[in-house]
Amino acid sequence: MAERAVRVKVLGIETSCDETSAAVVENGDCIISNVIASQIDIHSKYGGVVPEVASRRHVELILPVVQEALDQAGLTFADIGCIGAINRPGLIGALIVGAAAAKTIAYGADIPLVALHHLEAHIYANFLTNAHIEFPLICLVVSGGHSDIVYMTGHGQYQILARTRDDAAGEAFDKCARALGLGYPGGPVIDKLAGSGDTNAVDFPRAKVGDTLDFSFSGLKTAVIRYAQNTGTQTRIEDIAASFQQAVVDVLTDHTFRAVEQTGVRQVLMAGGVAANSSLQAAIKSRGSELGISVNAPPPVLCTDNAAMAASAAYYACRRGENAGLDMDCFASEPLGSAQR
Ligand code: KG4
Ligand code: ZN
Repeated sequence: MAERAVRVKVLGIETSCDETSAAVVENGDCIISNVIASQIDIHSKYGGVVPEVASRRHVELILPVVQEALDQAGLTFADIGCIGAINRPGLIGALIVGAAAAKTIAYGADIPLVALHHLEAHIYANFLTNAHIEFPLICLVVSGGHSDIVYMTGHGQYQILARTRDDAAGEAFDKCARALGLGYPGGPVIDKLAGSGDTNAVDFPRAKVGDTLDFSFSGLKTAVIRYAQNTGTQTRIEDIAASFQQAVVDVLTDHTFRAVEQTGVRQVLMAGGVAANSSLQAAIKSRGSELGISVNAPPPVLCTDNAAMAASAAYYACRRGENAGLDMDCFASEPLGSAQR
């Protein structure tokens, strides 16, 4: 790939769950277009994502979405220096659609292709924010499928310090919201309701997993569901939402700063859909400023799934000489930091 002075335009493609997205990003930090076709309306009536329905919708949307990303950028494939496709982890049928489109374009237009881990892409959303980012750092990656604390010593260098032993943070938001009759996805609606609720109304549990930094949210989820079934109508829904959210925020903040202390880093990044949570951002930023630790979080639209984050990650992967080849496969589950595929 050409050197920095040339300004390389990267096409990112993301189809790992229920968003069909394509984006063009220049030099890893400047978004030229970021088209996100959400399927939330289709899946919300089922209370969650239906994998086969998602795959079929990706098939219908992927080519128009890629074309729209190019049109908005005023570019053609001839202007693209690299393609980055998320090929792991995620819904396998959904991933295959984006990967097949990326391989076809890479072959047809003779463009280098890189394969990306979904969490790696989430982390790189931070590089789209103008923040000054310096390694080593800690990134809290919290989404519908993951709750990880990642230690990064450089581009593409990931060490997982903590993960969830059961439900992910976003999964807890979604399942509690469903039990409270708030629809899917649960995070944004709980975030909003909690804004006018009392965080001390219900004393929900903050689980510890021995003396590790790992998370466990299934006990909290069960406590909220039981509370809603037994005493729900006597307590304002805003108060239940605020008390649940505070329990999640307390644990995520506490573990993140224990990781900061253990590693001695001076910077924390936030990533993934749950990083859009206003209370979580406020808590981590406030603890960071107390301790003199720099904290950065992307705006909500770059926290949730999008292809600009993939294009940013791809720029740095391509600069490191990664190249996926046309036999690139997809993987439903794969830890961050495992050998590139
Ligand atoms: O990263 P993402 O878009 O998809 C996955 O990789 O899973 O994250 C989606 C998750 C969902 O569980 C959703 O409820 C949660 O992020 N989420 C939020 C907020 N916005 C989205 N959780 C808490 N507060 C929010 N504002
Ligand atoms: Zn995601």
